[in-house]
Amino acid sequence: METSDEAVIKLSRLRLPDAAKLLCRAFWSDPFIEYLFPDESERTILAEKYFLLNIRRKLMTCEVGVTSSLKAIAVWHSYRGEKIKDEESASDPLRRMPYMIGDAPYERLVTAGKALEEERRRIMYMPHCYLHLLAVEPGQQGKGYGSLLVRPILEQADEKRLPCYLVTMRESNLLFYDKHGFKLLQAKQLPNEGPFTWFMLRKSV
Ligand SMILES: CC(C)(COP(=O)(O)OP(=O)(O)OC[C@H]1O[C@@H](n2cnc3c(N)ncnc32)[C@H](O)[C@@H]1OP(=O)(O)O)[C@@H](O)C(=O)NCCC(=O)NCCS
Repeated sequence: METSDEAVIKLSRLRLPDAAKLLCRAFWSDPFIEYLFPDESERTILAEKYFLLNIRRKLMTCEVGVTSSLKAIAVWHSYRGEKIKDEESASDPLRRMPYMIGDAPYERLVTAGKALEEERRRIMYMPHCYLHLLAVEPGQQGKGYGSLLVRPILEQADEKRLPCYLVTMRESNLLFYDKHGFKLLQAKQLPNEGPFTWFMLRKSV
C-alpha cells in the first residue's frame, strides 16, 4: 500500500494494543525509552505496557491520529489557556503506571515528565499546539508516513494561528522537523541523568 492510499483517521480504542506495539517498535532504541527501561531483556514488555497506558490516557485528553493501516501514529493537543488539571481521577489509566512498569522506571518517568512540563509551561505561556508523539513503523520510515500525519496537524494549527511545540530526544529528528518548519529553541539534559532533549517551535504562518 502506498502513502497516497492511506487515510488519516482517529485511533479507535479497539486498536489500542496494536498502537502500543507500534510505538514500542518505533521507540525501542529511542533515548527516552532506553532511559526508562535500560534492561533490554525487559524493555519490550515494559515499554508496551507504558505505551498502552499512555495512549489510553491520551485518548481521553488529546487527539490521536493514525494512518488507516496503522503504519504511523501522531498524538497532539491544543492548549488554549485552559487550566491544566494536575490531579488524577480514579479512572485515570496513569494511576496503574507504577504497578505496570515498576517503581524505578516510574520514578524516572515522573522526574522527566515534571521537568518537561515545567519547560513547556515556561516557554509556551501562549495558546499552542503540542505535538506529543509521532512515530512510524520502523520498516516504513522515510516513505512519507510521518509527513502525511504531521501536515494536517500543522495546517489546523495555522488555521487557528497557533504555534506548534515539541520535544525530541533524537538529534537525527531535527532535520525532519526542520523540513516541517520547526526551529530549535534550546537543548538540554533532563535531570537525574535523563536524556538530552531538543525543544522545537514552529510559528504559525
Ligand atoms: C521521525 C519520523 C516520525 C519521521 O517520519 P518518516 O515517515 O520516517 O518521515 P517522512 O518519510 O515523512 O519524511 C522524511 C523526510 O525527512 C527527512 N528526514 C530527516 N531526518 C529524518 C529522520 N530522522 N527520519 C526520517 N526522515 C528524516 C528525509 O530526508 C525526508 O526528506 P525528503 O522528503 O525531502 O526526502 C520517523 O522516522 C520515526 O517514527 N522515527 C522513530 C520514532 C521517532 O523518533 N519519532 C519522533 C519522536 S519526536
